[in-house]
Amino acid sequence: MSMDVIEVIVAKRDGGELTGAQIDWVIDAYTRGEVADEQMSALAMAILLNGMNRREIAGWTQAMIRSGERMDWSALDRPTADKHSTGGVGDKITLPLAPLVAACGAYVPQLSGRGLGHTGGTLDKLESIPGWRASLSNDEMLSVLRSAGAVVCAAGSGLAPADKKLYALRDVTGTVESIPLIASSIMSKKIAEGTGSLVLDVKVGSGAFMKTPERARELAETMVALGTDAGVRTVALLTAMDRPLGRAVGNALEVEESVEVLAGGGPPDVVELTVRLAREMLEAAGISGPDPARALADGSAMDAWRRMITAQGGDPDAVLPRAAETMVVEAPSSGILSRLDAYAVGLAAWRLGAGRARKEDPVSFGAGIVLHAKPGDLVRAGQPLMTLHADETGRFERALAALQGGYEVGTGSAEVLPLVLDRITA
Ligand code: URA
Repeated sequence: MSMDVIEVIVAKRDGGELTGAQIDWVIDAYTRGEVADEQMSALAMAILLNGMNRREIAGWTQAMIRSGERMDWSALDRPTADKHSTGGVGDKITLPLAPLVAACGAYVPQLSGRGLGHTGGTLDKLESIPGWRASLSNDEMLSVLRSAGAVVCAAGSGLAPADKKLYALRDVTGTVESIPLIASSIMSKKIAEGTGSLVLDVKVGSGAFMKTPERARELAETMVALGTDAGVRTVALLTAMDRPLGRAVGNALEVEESVEVLAGGGPPDVVELTVRLAREMLEAAGISGPDPARALADGSAMDAWRRMITAQGGDPDAVLPRAAETMVVEAPSSGILSRLDAYAVGLAAWRLGAGRARKEDPVSFGAGIVLHAKPGDLVRAGQPLMTLHADETGRFERALAALQGGYEVGTGSAEVLPLVLDRITA
């Protein structure tokens, strides 16, 4: 069926509801190149300004799923479970979590992305491990899943191609921050990935897409409804991203911290969130019995990590890349570190080379920041607060500028969000 794209744009511009047929047609025609980028930009802006209701969002999501392949893991003998984070600073949780959940009895088929802007990407972190490969065929994915229990790799071009095209367009037209468009973008890929259950980690705070608990809750509720309607058991946690997660921010630095967690150590917030998300994933997958905290302590999660990295060509014992230069930032006075802003730290790490400005840019694997104090800690004047890592000293000045005003040492207590703010179910 052919339709008039201008009629579809005008309907949404004037605050109307799109019909199912209009949504199916516009997504298909855009994927085929019949609807032009400028027309889809206008429609995306109309959606950003006027929203979509639950029926429209579900239709939009299904149309994006139908634009490509839908993966199927029914040949596997155990349930599948996945986690998706909306992205944050120091958020390396997938690295210890995927092997941990595999060690507890679920298969974890995770399609992940690269970082853009101040948030890091899971694939960039794993690619800092010498030899590790992000691109796998569907047969290779299945084989890694069978041998290691978990696979983390790049989504192939056949998965939700409509979203791939639309997301790139939103990125350059100021239309990323629309809850219907974010929810349908994330969930079309997760549903097409074929997981049986899904736990969403929706970040809240300065370092997250969603700056307030209200916006994060709306996004979480929308995504949980989409997953549930598509037959995926879906639950969401709202978690803090007002300060960085853990102590390491940057690709290889975050791999090191993840390995500490898998060895039974690591920062308390990373351990707590990893175990909490693992419990949620196992419950959603219908697996009771195994205790994720025990699997971290007894080495079985570490064994699964080593199998997963090796199966994708990586050497789990390899020395990780290190940046050539370091610079210590000291506490300006004695007192309590009352604030350490996630966005400021993420931006500084990005400027040090840990992130990319354009999709095509390379990242520096060794660049980033190691935090020596977290909000609530008592610090003395002159004590190291953080160490900056970069390949060239010329990067330090702009990183320091990003950190200006991003931390405070005072006499009052730290005001931070609780690590887990809320749990959203259908
Ligand atoms: N991540 C996605 O995959 N899509 C969005 O729209 C935003 C974040």
